[in-house]
Amino acid sequence: MIKIQAGAGLAALVLTLGVARAEGDPAAGQQLVMQGDGKGGAPCLACHGVDGAGNDAAGFPRLAGLDAGYLARQLRDYRDGRRSDPVMAPNAANLSDQQIDDVAAYYQGQSAQPTPAAADENLLALGEKLVKQGDWDNYIAPCETCHGPDSQGVGSTFPALAGQHAGYLRKQLEAWQSGARSNDENQLMLAIAARLNPKQIQAVAAYLSHQSMKEGAQ
Ligand code: HEC
Ligand code: HEC
Repeated sequence: MIKIQAGAGLAALVLTLGVARAEGDPAAGQQLVMQGDGKGGAPCLACHGVDGAGNDAAGFPRLAGLDAGYLARQLRDYRDGRRSDPVMAPNAANLSDQQIDDVAAYYQGQSAQPTPAAADENLLALGEKLVKQGDWDNYIAPCETCHGPDSQGVGSTFPALAGQHAGYLRKQLEAWQSGARSNDENQLMLAIAARLNPKQIQAVAAYLSHQSMKEGAQ
């Protein structure tokens, strides 16, 4: 029953929020990635790579293949102070809306393959169960209810999680738990993150980092 309601809510959200898509120029975006914005922001490649692969050990998220509308919204949130991070926010501080749409279009078009760290089989199995079936005893909906089949993302609202770095995934779930990340106006992740215990966070992060982004999933 709960599952059906969650699904209906999801469809309504996708209809209302998933339609806006950024009109960016990937070639102009690539120039920003390589050279920076000329106003003090570091070239994105320094941390996220030209191919958007990011770096797990350094805490730089993967951007390759993520929906441009999602990326652009996050960049505006860093720029305008709705999402904070001392390492990332200064690099978004001086970007124009056009530069944001351009760089978002560029990274959406990249397809770096993940290279996850080895993880324990039991941990991966627990993660898979949570992602695909949830934990209804504790009111945790399957992540795929919102993040889509095989965690490939749904429109601009629900980002792909497949192939994202485990360290970054853990950090975001902990940021919702602590209130450090609160930029989603619908606050859909707050309730979910609050119900996950530390073992479950480890497990979903490990499992998702072992999945792949499928070509053309967006
Ligand atoms: C000095 C390193 C650094 C540079 C340079 C940098 N970033 Fe980041 N970026 C980060 C870190 C660290 C995070 C994760 C911050 C957090 O946890 O909120 C991040 C997060 C992001 C996110 C959010 C991803 C998500 O899945 O929500 C986007 C989008 C992004 N960066 C885009 C860019 C773009 C575009 C540029 C160039 C204009 C850039 N970054 C330059 C370090 C950097
Ligand atoms: C009810 C819908 C819903 C469910 C269920 C859900 N999420 Fe999310 N999730 C969202 C939305 C919406 C966002 C984007 C938030 C934003 O725009 O800031 C998000 C974002 C995320 C992000 C940030 C990705 C990034 O690139 O920064 C992570 C990590 C995440 N979710 C993990 C999970 C995990 C793990 C589960 C299952 C335990 C889950 N989510 C279940 C709606 C959901």
